[in-house]
Amino acid sequence: MRKIDLRSDTFTLPTPEMMEAIASAELGDDVAREDPTVIRLEEMAARRFGREAGLLVPSGTAGNLVSVMTHCRHGDELYCEAEAHVYFYEVGGLSAVAGVLPRLIKGTRGVYSAEQLESTYRGRELHFPNPSLVCIENTHNRAGGTCWTPRQVEEVAASAHDRGMRVHIDGARIFNACVALDVEPRDYARHVDSITFCLSKGLSCPVGSVIVGDREFIERARKNRKIIGGGMRQAGIIAAPGIVALERMVGRLKDDHDNARLLAKGLAAQGLSIDMATVQTNIVVADTSPAKAADYIARAKRNGILCSSFGRNLVRFVTHHGITEADIREALDRLGT
Ligand SMILES: Cc1ncc(COP(=O)(O)O)c(C=O)c1O
Repeated sequence: MRKIDLRSDTFTLPTPEMMEAIASAELGDDVAREDPTVIRLEEMAARRFGREAGLLVPSGTAGNLVSVMTHCRHGDELYCEAEAHVYFYEVGGLSAVAGVLPRLIKGTRGVYSAEQLESTYRGRELHFPNPSLVCIENTHNRAGGTCWTPRQVEEVAASAHDRGMRVHIDGARIFNACVALDVEPRDYARHVDSITFCLSKGLSCPVGSVIVGDREFIERARKNRKIIGGGMRQAGIIAAPGIVALERMVGRLKDDHDNARLLAKGLAAQGLSIDMATVQTNIVVADTSPAKAADYIARAKRNGILCSSFGRNLVRFVTHHGITEADIREALDRLGT
């Protein structure tokens, strides 16, 4: 039986055009800043976000970690949403490597307000860690791929800046937010100090993420990238498909969003509980109660449908470049049997 893989957009494979770009990429040693393809990707990303500079990193996790290390000193405090990826899924790198203490804000569908930030903020006081960074996750993975609007980012960022903190966006899927809300990356980037976005999720590249920010920040981030072992030599083979992705793969994300909505409606009709307001991009989180997520996933797998656990009774489905509308209809048929 043909498998329909809805576990994650990280399972996407590079397009034939990306493979060609890899084969023909002009290469050099990027640690010595001599890889022209990496330089081209970083400049392209910076332009797209309206910022001065970009830095290629191996993964979204590396992008967040390097950004946190660059914004914060050991012992500082970082504010983020209670189920933010940087806190929930990055192996505690925040504390283990960056030496930062997270302070959590419970958002609504992944988004928190400036007022919430202000009421959680403890101030600068002898007994407290130094508050130095606010993180925003857009789109928010565990909330179901939900989007922050540029206005929401602007308000939280203004409040953070008023308190002397910097602002980082974990924009692993920020292009999904841009397509869903019909806004430009720069509409977010102008309010914040750094953004990480992933090439390797919905944009279908095999590897890589990019941090963008001002030149001085990116130069310091470059050193931290080296500390964590993320300085890569002929990294043009990673950057080349990234260039293809930025040129060709952003607009099509709308198809993934349409497919996610189709899937969500079908799953709801089969009795799963879904907060449809969260189905804004390419992620669907469904409550399988009273069935356990593990049992639902095992049954789906027996029918050739792959999805992943998001908690005891929560299952996540992600649409992506490898999934067509026909796949969604077939997945619904098989899941409904
Ligand atoms: C919101 C978010 N941030 C960061 C990451 C980390 O990206 P990577 O898997 O490339 O380390 C992910 C991965 O799924 C994510 O969903």
